[in-house]
Amino acid sequence: MSLYVYLEPDRDRLAQVGPQFQSIGCAIVHSIADLEAHLPRYPETLLVIVGATVPLDEVLMFTAYQRLQRPLIGVVLVRRTVEPNDVLRCLRSGVREVVEEADWDGIRNACSRSVDLSKALSTTLRTNSEQAPYGRVITVFAGKGGCGRSVVAVNLAAALSAGGVRRVLLVDLDLQFGDIAIMLKLPPDRNIAGGIAMAGRLDEPGLRSIITGYKNGIDVLLAPSSPAQGEHVRRELVVEILDLARPNYDFIVVDTPALVTDQVLAALDISDWLIPIVTPDLPTLKSVRLTVEMFDMLDYAKDRRLLVFNRSNSEVGLTPEDISEAIGMPFAVHVPSSREVTISVNRAEPLYMTNPVHPFSRAIARLAELCSGITPEVAQKRRLFSRAGKAAR
Ligand SMILES: Nc1ncnc2c1ncn2[C@@H]1O[C@H](COP(=O)(O)OP(=O)(O)O)[C@@H](O)[C@H]1O
Ligand SMILES: [Mg+2]
Repeated sequence: MSLYVYLEPDRDRLAQVGPQFQSIGCAIVHSIADLEAHLPRYPETLLVIVGATVPLDEVLMFTAYQRLQRPLIGVVLVRRTVEPNDVLRCLRSGVREVVEEADWDGIRNACSRSVDLSKALSTTLRTNSEQAPYGRVITVFAGKGGCGRSVVAVNLAAALSAGGVRRVLLVDLDLQFGDIAIMLKLPPDRNIAGGIAMAGRLDEPGLRSIITGYKNGIDVLLAPSSPAQGEHVRRELVVEILDLARPNYDFIVVDTPALVTDQVLAALDISDWLIPIVTPDLPTLKSVRLTVEMFDMLDYAKDRRLLVFNRSNSEVGLTPEDISEAIGMPFAVHVPSSREVTISVNRAEPLYMTNPVHPFSRAIARLAELCSGITPEVAQKRRLFSRAGKAAR
């Protein structure tokens, strides 16, 4: 387990100074893209040490994004020489310290100060979130089966958890044919049907007894293992479960069946984000449009909807413009179609967890940013930064 990671793209430089960093227990990565892949895999990381050859602009973009997305992780910047003007820019973007490469003691001290600060922050953040967490409810839906609701829900939960920094509950409200247990290879015995007998008097231990722990801070409330039981899960029970769960999670992601059932309406009524998913085919398009019209009738806020275009790169004669116009709203995110998605489903491992830099995972990460309230300006910075990361490879 390594709390530090050292980024140095230049192999010669790495040969000279790498062993020193390894001696203090650093993991080593060679590009910002590798670093992006490393951080979700090693959620214990508290410090990124950026080597002297990484261009300053990339460092600043990375740090500004990092500060919002993973506030616990500190950034210490190593430079050949320390220029006062650069130091100011760095500190403004959130770099904790800038140290000269030749000053090894200085580097070591800066690293331990940063780790101490992260540990202190972690306690404070946890205490604050224990005092007042209030899970935002995010419901994904589509008017037809096979649009990718469950794939998006599972990967969105993974992205939102940010490697365990945030607590996420994934709820399978596809009460007849829920797929989440299969998609995450979870034993089906604890599930929402266990709540039927507790309806009207469900308490936290009761809720915990029907929830299944997954990984990285993600809990799952599975659908009943037999379709018949689903009919006995009433709308009131769904409301009771979501109300009870909210104070214990940062996000609650709800997966739904193709029909807008009474239980789904209960979730939609209290959702902070509604995520319609559309694929480029006419039947799906029609049903999503009808559902969105229904939302208008029910007065669900328009600025709380994030339209996802799944399989956006499929060549099937419908342009994105046609689709977005027919539904009457712009796309928040384009999610590409990829074989890797199907392979990940068949392996029962969310693609976001095994390959967070895959284009599919990046699209899901953008969706997670939007759900977390990260502004389009910061999202834009992140896009620039990921391009810079790619170009550096
Ligand atoms: N972006 C994508 N790229 C490739 N395959 C996808 C994509 N989205 C969904 N799929 C495939 O479609 C299948 C159905 O997706 P799923 O999430 O189960 O749909 P739904 O929950 O809407 O019925 C999945 O097993 C997956 O293989
Ligand atoms: Mg599904």
